[in-house]
Amino acid sequence: MTDTTSTPGQTNASASSAVPKNSQTGTAKSGQSGGSPETPKASYERDGNQLITALKLLRYLWPAQRPRLRLLFVLTGLAILMGQLFLAVTPLVFATAVDSVGGEGWFPSASIALIIGLVTAFGLARLLSQASQELSSALFIFVGQNGIRTVALETFRHLHQLSLRFHLDRQTGGLSRAIERGTKGIEFVLRMMTFNLIPTTFAIFIVSAILLLNFGAIYAIITFVTVVGYIIYTIAVTEWRLKYRRMMNETDSEATTKAVDSLLNYETVKYFSNEDHEAVRYDGALKGYESAAVNSQLSLSLLNLGQGVIIAGGLVLLLGMAVPQVVSGEMTVGDFVAIQAYLIQLYLPLNFLGFAYREIKQGLVDMEYMFNLLEVEREVPDREGAVPVMVDGAQLAFRTVDFGYNDDRQILHQLDFTVEPGKTLAIVGPSGSGKSTIGRMLFRFYDVWAGGIEIDGQDLRDVTQSSLRGAIGIVPQDTVLFNDTIAYNIAYGRPNASQEEVIKAAELAQIHQFIMELPEGYDTRVGERGLKLSGGERQRVSIARTILKDPAILLFDEATSALDTDTESAIQASLAAVSRDRTTLVIAHRLSTVVDADEIIVLDKGKIVEKGAHHALLERNGVYAHMWHSQQEADE
Ligand SMILES: Nc1ncnc2c1ncn2[C@@H]1O[C@H](COP(=O)(O)OP(=O)(O)OP(=O)(O)O)[C@@H](O)[C@H]1O
Ligand SMILES: [Mg+2]
Repeated sequence: MTDTTSTPGQTNASASSAVPKNSQTGTAKSGQSGGSPETPKASYERDGNQLITALKLLRYLWPAQRPRLRLLFVLTGLAILMGQLFLAVTPLVFATAVDSVGGEGWFPSASIALIIGLVTAFGLARLLSQASQELSSALFIFVGQNGIRTVALETFRHLHQLSLRFHLDRQTGGLSRAIERGTKGIEFVLRMMTFNLIPTTFAIFIVSAILLLNFGAIYAIITFVTVVGYIIYTIAVTEWRLKYRRMMNETDSEATTKAVDSLLNYETVKYFSNEDHEAVRYDGALKGYESAAVNSQLSLSLLNLGQGVIIAGGLVLLLGMAVPQVVSGEMTVGDFVAIQAYLIQLYLPLNFLGFAYREIKQGLVDMEYMFNLLEVEREVPDREGAVPVMVDGAQLAFRTVDFGYNDDRQILHQLDFTVEPGKTLAIVGPSGSGKSTIGRMLFRFYDVWAGGIEIDGQDLRDVTQSSLRGAIGIVPQDTVLFNDTIAYNIAYGRPNASQEEVIKAAELAQIHQFIMELPEGYDTRVGERGLKLSGGERQRVSIARTILKDPAILLFDEATSALDTDTESAIQASLAAVSRDRTTLVIAHRLSTVVDADEIIVLDKGKIVEKGAHHALLERNGVYAHMWHSQQEADE
């Protein structure tokens, strides 16, 4: 007769739907469309066998390298058993006390002291039972929490191992929710199992055995049958009313999603004066929740009532059977009291059964999603025997590389170029021609279709990815910052850098001055994704952290595109200084920033259409010369 309810807006741990895409992108479109949000199911959100899921969990509760935790696990089981044994004797002791008072039973002529002793023993047994139960929680918390931490950490690490493709296809919110729900699910399942399901199962058998020994088979059988009937009834009804819970959770998420999406699009709503439209959409979800919540409560009452009927029926039946025996003297009043006490004792924890069943089921589903995540394979694994990349001068070569993100669309065609150690190569070309893709290939976020990429003659596929990525620094086209301080974000390039080094890097990136003008200086927090900084400021933070990383190979992807001309030329000088003796790739739209590059390649639709130094390309009077002249004109 316990039920948890959640109100709209507060996401329940067992809510089962994912937030639809448009809440993440926050586009104006979603404010206009009236359709209900789609709930795309990610591949890891598939249901499987819940028994297998439970067994998988066991692996974390029985950790191989931790004998002490295994011991605690065993002791927990013993403590639970002890708790139930002590609990099972209490009615017997109490019955004996009752009989002694009435002058029958084992001690028909007991002294007051003995009866008080019996009552004390009764209290003691209760206390010991409770103590054992507390002991079992205390023992188990070590095992359970360790297991939860291990799973969460393993999943988190695994997510970072998975390919960029996986993450681009997923919503980050969905992934973090999968971990959050998964760990919560484990917690629920464990709590319900150790403090409800397992003790109750023990209790059913212990009590049945005691009834069998003391009062005969018929009492044991009736008790056992009513309890089992109670369980079957509860599970069946819970299963039936699960749909209302699910509906509650879904409409709850839907309401949350709509509210969040609408508030994210605050400005758009105002631009179009669509407040009423938004309210109607939100109310639609609220209405759904309202009716689901009502149905859920009504069906819960029905469940509880049915349970009550079974309990009352069992009690009346057994006590009714006992009455003639008590009257005829076959049974004592104490026995009568004991039977009643046993039944109440059994039924009490069963009250939670519907709730426990539902939570365990949902917990298992949530756990399963998390375990499924762990089984997603890495798309780009390190090959067996991969070694750290040895960089000496850092010659970089793309050897007739073919590549596409998806099989049906090739992006890079026969791309072939070499950057000699310490030289700078500029890549220019129209939007979508594949420039940033080259950077992603260099970081080995994807593998080539054909050809190969080499650093100092070592194919990227033969070296470890972490050493490879350690050797390259990138200032990406769009910089996203951690929601922390400016200092933290710059130091991310090299977390053990000293404060002086951080400041030096900031000076080179032309952002020190700006930071010093902020009231909180380097301790200024940059906001979610760094959005409290302007695009140009973010870009300079990103430059600073790459300078701090001090890699052998540098890659600037439109690193100064968001800056005004003055700041850009100031920063160009620093960038030139930083990249002087380093192999550097520069991707740029503004050709004036690449005139000094040792070589320039012009990319169009993933093919190199021209190649050469600035002046040579101008003389050729081809694509590059054309681009150059039109940009010069535009500048004038
Ligand atoms: N993850 C992806 N999955 C599928 N296609 C992609 C993916 N990323 C990029 N593309 C496609 O690959 C092509 C090349 O993209 P890329 O980002 O390399 O262009 P770019 O030359 O850097 O353009 P811009 O100058 O606009 O930055 C584009 O047509 C783009 O749509
Ligand atoms: Mg790009």
